[in-house]
Amino acid sequence: MSKTATLEIDGNKYEFPIIKGTENELGIDVKTLRGATGGVTTIDPGYKNTGSCESAITFLDGEKGILRYRGYSIEELAEKADFLEVAYLLIFGELPTATELEKFDNDIKEESHVDEDMKKILDGFPKSAHPMGVLSSLTSALIAFNPGSVDVDSEEEMYNAIVKILAKFPVLAAWTMRKRKSLPLDYGDDSLGYVQNLHKMMFARPNKSYEPNKLVYDALDKLLILHADHEQNCSTSTVRIVGSSHAGLFASLSAGISALWGPLHGGANQAVIEMLEAIKADGGDTAKYIAKAKDKNDPFRLMGFGHRVYKNFDPRAKIIKKSAEEVLGDLGIEDPVLDIAKGLAKVALEDEYFVKRKLYPNVDFYSGIIYRALGIPTEMFTVMFALGRLPGWIAQWREMRLRKEPIGRPRQIYIGENDRKFVPVSER
Ligand code: CMC
Repeated sequence: MSKTATLEIDGNKYEFPIIKGTENELGIDVKTLRGATGGVTTIDPGYKNTGSCESAITFLDGEKGILRYRGYSIEELAEKADFLEVAYLLIFGELPTATELEKFDNDIKEESHVDEDMKKILDGFPKSAHPMGVLSSLTSALIAFNPGSVDVDSEEEMYNAIVKILAKFPVLAAWTMRKRKSLPLDYGDDSLGYVQNLHKMMFARPNKSYEPNKLVYDALDKLLILHADHEQNCSTSTVRIVGSSHAGLFASLSAGISALWGPLHGGANQAVIEMLEAIKADGGDTAKYIAKAKDKNDPFRLMGFGHRVYKNFDPRAKIIKKSAEEVLGDLGIEDPVLDIAKGLAKVALEDEYFVKRKLYPNVDFYSGIIYRALGIPTEMFTVMFALGRLPGWIAQWREMRLRKEPIGRPRQIYIGENDRKFVPVSER
């Protein structure tokens, strides 16, 4: 295997090293391209062929449908680990010992209060505000209540900032939902685990005793683990690029939440349920919607289908589909939308358009069905995704800062007007 790649421009040859990852992925290292060629750049809209960094956090093979966090398969983690263990693994690189996990859990609990003045900020939002916009703003507002930027060379400062946001984020997420429902803004219960506490913060009512439910906790835990990281996706790249200007952790995360909100990214989970509901209301004619998705003159896309990287199947979708069936079965819920989803997937998976383009159900296709079964309102689905993705964003931000990566600043090819003389307004 050649160790270099040769580029020829106008008869001049340039050599670039080929770098190899631990899973034998190859990349052409073009760091010296502009200097060597006198300013030639690469152009790759959407970064379809561009590696933005070297990373030791998540491995993803889109052809084989493999996803691993720090070397552990997503299937095994979803089955055997809990969310807090996975968060620790992603952020610090190793599964925690029992002592490390206990300390991590206790440190998070110690930080799980949110300044009461944050409630005034939340109060300023209309009830109809989308929870993702509110969450992004509140995460940003947290900066004002936690002054001081993180010295990334201090392990202690880094750890404290991480624990703080892991503690406060679920409180903010729960508050965004409670505000919409006109429920009092409560704090959690330190006697509960991370995911149990999140559930209680979301659902506890002032006039009712709260009933713990292991089945619900397990389903939620699994969903959060499956969303915890996905290498250099849109929101993670946003977190890294914002952080690369040495903006703080909370500011970088707030930007990540905004990036996740879009319907082509995390917002797809809400869009999927809305699409399935629309199909149901329209008589359940899946063929009609498949035809719309294939029609290039129709902007409609089959939400929850397709992925930039997975060209075989999305391993998360496989686990979530099975889990959706189990959760609905165990909770005794019959949701006609699950049948529509299965019908739609069956037709699409056999249709030449989808087969040729390697479009498969992605993580968002079935997740909303479980969220619904757990009583989570549709507009909160992407917030659930953000709660799951939080450790991944933190891990990627930490890695980027520890590797002392340069500020993110892509190039462009200018296609605008050439030099022109200014014409005063009276002469235009
Ligand atoms: N429905 C119909 N056609 C599709 C779809 C779809 N959902 N996805 C891709 N295509 C077609 C697309 O029109 C194009 O066709 P052609 O080659 O004829 O022009 C081809 O497939 C390739 O699509 P692309 O848009 O170039 O692919 P991409 O890698 O830029 O986009 C994607 C990936 C996920 C944005 C896209 O598949 C999509 O919009 N899916 C629907 C939204 C969705 O479910 N998003 C969640 C992604 S997974 C979770 C996450 O990232 O947060």
